[in-house]
Amino acid sequence: MNKPESLQENIRSSLTETRLFPPHADFAAKARIDARKLSELRDEAAADHVAFWARLAHEELDWQQPFSIALDDAEAPNYRWFTDGALNVSYNCIDRHLKTHADKLAIISEGEPGDVSTYTFQQLHDEVCKLANALKALGVAKGDRVVIYLPMAPQAVIAMQACARIGATHSVVFGGFSAQSLRDRIEGANAKAVITADGGTRGGHVVELKKAVDEALASGCQSVAKVVVYRRTGKPVEWTAGRDVWWHEITANTSAECEPEWVNAEHPLFLLYTSGSTGKPKGIQHSSGGYLLGAHITSKWIFDLHDSDVFWCTADVGWVTGHTYVAYGPLSNGATIVMYEGGPMTPDAGRFWKICQDHGVTIFYTAPTAIRALAKMGEQIPARYDLSRLRLLGSVGEPINPEAWMWYHRVIGHEKLPIVDTWWQTETGAILMSPLPGATATKPGSCTQPLPGIFAEIVDEAGNIIEGNDAGGYLVITKPWPSMLRTVYDDNERYLSTYWSQFGDPLAARRENKPFLYVAGDSAHRDKDGYYWILGRMDDVLKVAGHRLGTAEVESALVAHPRVAEAAVVGRPHEIKGEGIVAFVICKGERPVDDDAVKLSRELREFVSKSMGPIAKPDEIRFTDQLPKTRSGKIMRRLLRSVAKGEAITQDISTLENPGIVEQLLGRA
Ligand code: WTA
Repeated sequence: MNKPESLQENIRSSLTETRLFPPHADFAAKARIDARKLSELRDEAAADHVAFWARLAHEELDWQQPFSIALDDAEAPNYRWFTDGALNVSYNCIDRHLKTHADKLAIISEGEPGDVSTYTFQQLHDEVCKLANALKALGVAKGDRVVIYLPMAPQAVIAMQACARIGATHSVVFGGFSAQSLRDRIEGANAKAVITADGGTRGGHVVELKKAVDEALASGCQSVAKVVVYRRTGKPVEWTAGRDVWWHEITANTSAECEPEWVNAEHPLFLLYTSGSTGKPKGIQHSSGGYLLGAHITSKWIFDLHDSDVFWCTADVGWVTGHTYVAYGPLSNGATIVMYEGGPMTPDAGRFWKICQDHGVTIFYTAPTAIRALAKMGEQIPARYDLSRLRLLGSVGEPINPEAWMWYHRVIGHEKLPIVDTWWQTETGAILMSPLPGATATKPGSCTQPLPGIFAEIVDEAGNIIEGNDAGGYLVITKPWPSMLRTVYDDNERYLSTYWSQFGDPLAARRENKPFLYVAGDSAHRDKDGYYWILGRMDDVLKVAGHRLGTAEVESALVAHPRVAEAAVVGRPHEIKGEGIVAFVICKGERPVDDDAVKLSRELREFVSKSMGPIAKPDEIRFTDQLPKTRSGKIMRRLLRSVAKGEAITQDISTLENPGIVEQLLGRA
C-alpha cells in the first residue's frame, strides 16, 4: 500500500474510535428511511439486486419508453442498464414537477459580491428551453459534445440541463483550471461548442474565463465552431466574429418551449475528466438512465429530501459532486437548491453560515477541507448566525478526520443533527457508501456501510475476498450498479485496465464466467461492526482540498519548464487541505542553491499554477541531483513521502541504486 503516513493516521482512528451516534428519535420518526425500511431495502436488494434497481428505475423516473431489459452484461465489464428504455434527464429534473410545483423555487443563487437571483421550476424550464433551442440553432445536435466552462452560477446548471434536453453530451471543466487544461479537455472530447462567461468572481478576484477560452482555442481545438458567452462581470472581452455569440442575444427571441430529445437510457449524458495515475486525465463517461437513477435515489435517501427542504451542496459544478448533487439529483426530486459563486472566506469566514441563515438552508453538504478551514477560525463565527433551520449535515471528497467530524457535530450540528459522511467517486456517479440519517448510527470518520443495492468487499493483494469483519485491503465493488461509469471516453482499453484488470484479465474472466471486481483505487478497513473506513488512495492520486489531482500530471507540468530535467511529486499531510504537494526537481545543468533556488522555486510554483490551475501549485519545491531509485529504476516514492513530511527514514534504503542521495534530500549534503 502506497501512503503509509496518512494510512497510519486513518488506521489508528478506525481502530480506536469508539464513539457511536445513533439517529435521533424525532429525526428518524419523520425520515423517509428508518431502520426497518433500510433493512427491508437491503433484503430486497440481496434477494435480486437487478430486480431491485429495475423496480426503483420504473417507480422513480419518468420514461418516455419504459424498459424491459434491466441489466445487459453481455459485454461485461461494459455493463448497460435499462437498455431498451428512453427518457430525457432534463424532463425528469424539471418538466415533471411543473404540474404541481411550477412556482416552487428550484434555484437560489448568490454571487460573491452578494447579488441574489432565483428561478422557479417554471423559470428554470423556460431558460433551459431557450438555451436548448439556441444551441440547436447554432448547429449543436444530439450526440455532439459541448464543453461548459462557467462560474458557479445558475447558468452552469441551465447549460448542463439544456445539453441534456437536446441530447448533447456535456463536459464541464472546472473554472479554476487553466487555458491549457481547458484545451486538453476540449480536444479530448472533440467538442463542437464551448459555453463560458466573460468572467466570474472568486476570492475577490475576477476569473477571466473567456480569456482562457480564447487562449485555448488559439492553439488548437479545431472542432469548436461556436463559443457562447454569458455576460456576468460586464468587463470587456476579446471577440471573434462568426465564432463568439452572446448568450443573451441568442436566447432573446427564442421560444421557451423545447420538446425534449428522448434518448436511450445508455446515451452519454456527460463526460467528466478526472485524474488518474498517468499524466493524462481520463474522460469518465456517464449514461442518462442509470446515472439519473443513482443521482435521484441517493439524494432522496441520504439527504432525506422533503418538499420544504433547501439543499446546499457547496461543490463546484466542475467536479462530480456538483453534477450529481447540484445539477441533477436534488432537482430530479423537485428540491430547492442553493448555489454560491465565491470563496468561503469572502469577505470573512462567516460567509457559509450567513448563506445558510439568509436562505434558510436545511441540508448542508460540504468537504472536510472546508470544515477544517472554518473550524480553525473559531466557534464564535458560526455562533453569530441563525442556523436553526439546518437539519442535516453532509461531508464528501476525502476522509474526514474525527476531530473535524466532532467540530461539525458540536458547533454546527449542536450535537443533534445527523452527519452523513458519503463515500463515492467520479466513476461511481453517485454515493455508494453512507449512513442513512434516520437509520444508521454513525462513527466519526467512517462512511459506515454500502447503500442497499451496492455490494462492497475488501480483498487482499491477490484479489481474494477477505471474509468477516476487521478486514483491511483494497476496496472493491462486486456487483454492477446503475450509475457506474460506462467507459473512458475514446479509450475503452483504459477503462478495462484501470478499473477491472488489477486481479487478472477481465475479458478472460468474462469467458470463464468469473465475477468482476470493480477496483475503486482506495484502501479501506472494515471494522468489527462491519463499518467501512476509507484509508486513502492506493494509486498516485492526490486529494488537495478535496480536488483530485494526479502526481503524474503535476510532474509533466514541471518538466515542461525549460530548466527542469526530471521531477517527482508526492503528497504530504496538510492541516487544512488534507494533502499538500511537494515536488522534488532535478534541474538541467547545475543544481540551484541559495537565492537562485528560492527564485527558481517561486518561478516553478507559478509555472505549475499557470499551466494547470492554482489548485495544483506545489507547496514546496526541493532541488536535488538525483531521485532515489531502486536498482530497477523505480522512484522510491515512499521514501520521498517520508522526506517531504520531515520524518525519520525507516525504510530499507539498501535497495537504492544511489543511497547517498538520501543525505542530500534531507538537506544535509
Ligand atoms: C475520496 C469525489 C473518504 C476517495 C466524490 C475516492 C472519500 C476519491 C470520501 C474520489 C469519503 C471521496 N471518505 N474518502 N467520504 N469521498 N473520497 O472522483 O479517495 O473527486 O476514491 O469524487 O475521493 O474522488 P472524486
